[in-house]
Amino acid sequence: MARSQWGSRLGFILAAAGSAIGLGAIWKFPYVAATNGGGAFLFIYLLICLTLGLVLMVGEMALGRATASSAVGAFRKLKGGAWPIVGYIGVLVCFLIYSFYSVVGGWTIAYIGKSLEGSILTADSKVLSAIFSHFIANPIEPLFYHAGFALITLSVVIGGVQKGIENLSKFLMPALFVLMLVLIARGLTLPGALEGLVYFVTPDFGKVTGGMLVDAMGLAFFSLSLGMGIMITYGSYVEKQANLMSSALWVIALTVTTCFLAGLMVLPAVFAFGFDPSAGPGLTFITMPAVFAHLPFGQLFAVLFFCLLLVAALTSSVSLLEVVVSFMIDEFGMARRRAAILVSLAIFLMGVPASLSLGVWSEYTVFGKGVFDLLDYLTSNLLMPVVEVLLALFIGWRVWPTIRDELAQGRMPGWLHAVKGFVRYAAPLLILTILVRSV
Ligand code: PFF
Repeated sequence: MARSQWGSRLGFILAAAGSAIGLGAIWKFPYVAATNGGGAFLFIYLLICLTLGLVLMVGEMALGRATASSAVGAFRKLKGGAWPIVGYIGVLVCFLIYSFYSVVGGWTIAYIGKSLEGSILTADSKVLSAIFSHFIANPIEPLFYHAGFALITLSVVIGGVQKGIENLSKFLMPALFVLMLVLIARGLTLPGALEGLVYFVTPDFGKVTGGMLVDAMGLAFFSLSLGMGIMITYGSYVEKQANLMSSALWVIALTVTTCFLAGLMVLPAVFAFGFDPSAGPGLTFITMPAVFAHLPFGQLFAVLFFCLLLVAALTSSVSLLEVVVSFMIDEFGMARRRAAILVSLAIFLMGVPASLSLGVWSEYTVFGKGVFDLLDYLTSNLLMPVVEVLLALFIGWRVWPTIRDELAQGRMPGWLHAVKGFVRYAAPLLILTILVRSV
């Protein structure tokens, strides 16, 4: 049977961008950029996305299209041996990410509720910080929302409404963009906002550290959904004539633009309201309500913002769950429904200690990190880079002719030589150097 395909190249780009654009861009990027000193981090993040990110994304897509398989199968089909292990690690990373992703997805649901009751519509930084920290430290409430988020994702994956979500997000993602532009305009015109803008866009390379480099690289992989086999799986549904390089460029451009806009939306406001830029994972949740409080129809904006954020998060979480579910179907012959329910249950359980580690279990740490931070760090800053090194070596040294043919499409464009050199030498060396420097 022919493998099913995306309706169009646009459909493929939007689906890949839907997986990429999510909490990573809007929740994670602003606080990681803020903690890492702003401008220099932004610059390095962009540089990594446009070099390493681009080559690895196009490589993953080509791998998928060449083999018409998902992550593990792609390695098995082309080379076998120990290579499928790379795919297995990718699936594991998906599982681990999804468990804390769902906890944060739950926060967005909770904040829709808080916007509706109006409790967060204040510009008082102390009140907003207190609301957020009380909420995440509560042992029960966030778990309830975490379960809610996992359930919605599950129902999308087994309910076959993915197409519906795709169609819906064609309208909702642009709506999110427009809303962000409005919020940026409001934030930038607040007194004191300029300082935040300068902080965000002016690079001070004196601040660059090994830790910052690995954070930027981890965030690049996380925000672009790389290193987990998602782009392999998505690439496997692309028609042969589609140009993968320009598709990858589109996905990256859309994602980094969203990150940039999210930074512009949050950081000037952080400075204008005198919040702490290094507040950590709460930054977007603490700062944005203060902006809404300064807008006419602020409550409406608040509800809209968290609803759209939820949709963006769902198009990403669906891709995370999908990878693990397809793996269970392919490897264990499990029925789809059963696999999806089992995996969702497992990620719910895995998310419980992650959520509790932000409150009642905060004293239980490994290497100074609670479960939530540990999952985040382990996946973005260790496992994803390791997968990417192996992937680059695989593409560059083991299966290059296949990948080259997939990308060349009968011609041999000059940039392919650059891609080959980059993926063979520069990519593995760069990732390894950053990893070693951060240790
Ligand atoms: N890229 C998504 C985001 O930034 O929200 C998160 C994500 C989705 C990471 C899928 C990894 C992944 F495979």
